[in-house]
Amino acid sequence: MHTLPRRWFSLFAGALALLAAGSLLAQTPKKPLKIGFSQTGAESAWRTANTVSMKTEAEKRGIDLKFSDAQSKQENQIRAVRSFITQGVDVIVIAPIVETGWDPVLREAKRAHIPVILTDRTIKTEDESLYACFIGSDFYEEGRMAADWLAKFAAGKGNIVELQGTPGSAPANERRKAFADAITKYPGLKIIDSQSGDFRRAGGKEVMEAFLKKHSKAIDVVYAHNDDMALGAAQAIEEAGLKPGKDITIVTIDAINEAIQAIVDGRINCTVECSPLFGPKVYETAAKLVAGEKVPKKAYNKDELFDSSNAAAALPSRVY
Ligand code: AHR
Repeated sequence: MHTLPRRWFSLFAGALALLAAGSLLAQTPKKPLKIGFSQTGAESAWRTANTVSMKTEAEKRGIDLKFSDAQSKQENQIRAVRSFITQGVDVIVIAPIVETGWDPVLREAKRAHIPVILTDRTIKTEDESLYACFIGSDFYEEGRMAADWLAKFAAGKGNIVELQGTPGSAPANERRKAFADAITKYPGLKIIDSQSGDFRRAGGKEVMEAFLKKHSKAIDVVYAHNDDMALGAAQAIEEAGLKPGKDITIVTIDAINEAIQAIVDGRINCTVECSPLFGPKVYETAAKLVAGEKVPKKAYNKDELFDSSNAAAALPSRVY
C-alpha cells in the first residue's frame, strides 16, 4: 500500500528540482558576445563613420567589442587577428586593407573554430571556406555607376585624370576596373593619367597639383575613388585659379555629407554612395553565426547616386 505514495513523492520531488534548475538557468544573464574587429585605420571621413557605426552599435547591443586600428598596415591587422584568437573571441570581423595575403591567419582562425566576417572590403583567396561571409558594398557597381553618369553628363567626351585609392585594396582595384571597362563604350572619354592618393584628402590634393602641372589645361574630368581625395583635388583646382565643378568636372564615390554639400555648392558634380553603416548588419550576422545559423556568403548594400538633381533634398536626412 505505502509504495505508491513514496513513488509519487519522489516523482514530485524530481519535477520540483527540474523546475528550480530551469528557473535558475533563465535567471543567469546571457554572456555578452565577444567580438574582435580589425579596422584598416582612419584614412577618410568614410572610415571614421564606419568606426562610429561599429562602436555605437556594439555598445547598444551590449557586445564586448575588442577594437583594433591597424593604422593602414596589413601586418598590424594580422597581429590583431592573432590576438583576437588568443583572447578567445566568439567572432572575428576584418575590414581587410588589401586583397591578398590573408590565407595563413584565416587558417589559424579556422583551426581555433572562430568564424570570420569580412566587412567593407573583400579578399582574394583560393579557399572560400576560410571566412564565413562578406558584408559590404559592390565596388565594381559603384565604378560603373560613376562612369555611366559621366558619359551622359559629358556627352561621351573628355580627358580624365583618375585618383586611385590604396594600392592593392578591393575598392581601388574594383572601382578602377569598372570605370575603365565602362568607358570603353565611349571612345571620346580617355583616362590620360592615374595615380594613387591613398584615399586621403592630402593625397588627393598633392596628386591633383602634380596632374595640373603636368597636363596644364588638358584636364576635363577628375574621377576620384573616394570623396576625401575629390575634396582635396577640388582645393588644388581652386588654388590653381580654376573652378572645380565647372572648369573641371568631378565625379567621386562615398557620398559623405561634405561631398553632398559640395555638390549643392557646385564644387563637385556627382558622388556615388558607399554606405559605411555596417554595424547593425555585422552584429546581427555574428549572433546568427554563434547560434549555428546559416548566413548568406555575400551581402551587398544597395547604394544611390547624388548629383545636382537630388543632393539638396538628400542632405537633411544623411547620417554620415
Ligand atoms: O573601403 C571603402 C573605402 O575606404 C571608402 O570608399 C574610402 O573612403 C575608404 O577609406
